[in-house]
Amino acid sequence: MAKINDNYLKLPGSYLFSTIGKKVREYEAAHPEKKVLRLGIGDVTQPLAPAVVEALHAAVDEMGDAETFRGYAPDLGYEFLRRTIAEHDFTARGCDISPDEIFVSDGAKCDCGNIQEIFSPDCRFAVCDPVYPVYVDSNVMAGRTGSYDSVAGRFDGVVYMPCTAENGFVPELPEEIPDLIYLCFPNNPTGAVITKDQLQKWVDYANEHDSVILYDAAYEAYISDPAVPHSIYECAGAKECAVEFRSFSKTAGFTGLRLGYTVIPRQLKTGGESLWPLWARRHGTKYNGAPYIVQKAGEAVYSAAGKEQIRNQIGYYKENAKIIFEGLRKAGYQVAGGENAPYIWLRTPDGLTSWEFFDRLLDEANVVGTPGSGFGPHGEHYFRLSAFGSRGNVLEAVERICRL
Ligand SMILES: Cc1ncc(COP(=O)(O)O)c(C=O)c1O
Repeated sequence: MAKINDNYLKLPGSYLFSTIGKKVREYEAAHPEKKVLRLGIGDVTQPLAPAVVEALHAAVDEMGDAETFRGYAPDLGYEFLRRTIAEHDFTARGCDISPDEIFVSDGAKCDCGNIQEIFSPDCRFAVCDPVYPVYVDSNVMAGRTGSYDSVAGRFDGVVYMPCTAENGFVPELPEEIPDLIYLCFPNNPTGAVITKDQLQKWVDYANEHDSVILYDAAYEAYISDPAVPHSIYECAGAKECAVEFRSFSKTAGFTGLRLGYTVIPRQLKTGGESLWPLWARRHGTKYNGAPYIVQKAGEAVYSAAGKEQIRNQIGYYKENAKIIFEGLRKAGYQVAGGENAPYIWLRTPDGLTSWEFFDRLLDEANVVGTPGSGFGPHGEHYFRLSAFGSRGNVLEAVERICRL
């Protein structure tokens, strides 16, 4: 008899966004006359930049011509893209990352979900609370946790690091030393950022304790504060202790196109073993590469025209974030995030739980957001609004929320 991986059974049933989707569908079915505005899921709405579309067309033509047709992509990504990434995302910021330390993939979700495979099942891992659920769930599936405590909203055996208004949503260094530390800045869901000095403390801590930091910088493009690092490799010693994940999804609107990459420096070792060959082996065995046309589209993101078009797109979402942040602040809400991130993290009013506020917002303002408690117990009494909507919808949603 085939036996299932019963770690999967530890995962609580209903996924946050399916519950939200169900509630919204039911509401819309009962109130077909209402226009519901969605500021919930973090998906982009602006079309691909013209430079990207142009590169896609050209690459499709190459694939349709016997002279320029390409089959399987190189395991770690095309050299043209890895070189471009290394130059623009790292060398230009003073980070010494070479093209061969970059592993191109079809997005950061897969990479940050899969990376745990190269570590022992005995590793103890730490996550922020609230947290992007992929880090926790992928480790649950791998058997690195105990069971789920539905009252506490936590898995046994995980080091949870509270992110609260008091610590500016940047966790304290844990007293109990984890082997793996997931950090995500700019943060989903809180929109918080970490300064270079703060991040340097994490790098020093990881190097001191031989921990590995798994640094998710999927929202790096939203940073405008010069004190905030775009990459963990801006910190001294990070190449000895950190893996970094990047995504083209929120940077260049590739949520549907799919492209990302992971950086594993050559000198990164744990227990004397290098991580680079392990991830190369894993990538080569289980992954067959992002499509050529998508990698060409990714290269176009860094062209002069692409950069400018994408800067405008991000500027558009950042302006949305500002409208939400300022609108709610003026209406008396306690708000965080939104300045260097596309997410606004607000304290629910009148002591409402996150789900009570969700229901009130849906019923009375016909606006959909994401209950903070869905990201972890310290998300309770918080609510996430995303800046990825159209300007019209954002303005209307803010007006409706302020009228509540
Ligand atoms: C923190 C974080 N990391 C990774 C991802 C996934 O990115 P991708 O679309 O590249 O898989 C998301 C998407 O919402 C995210 O919020």
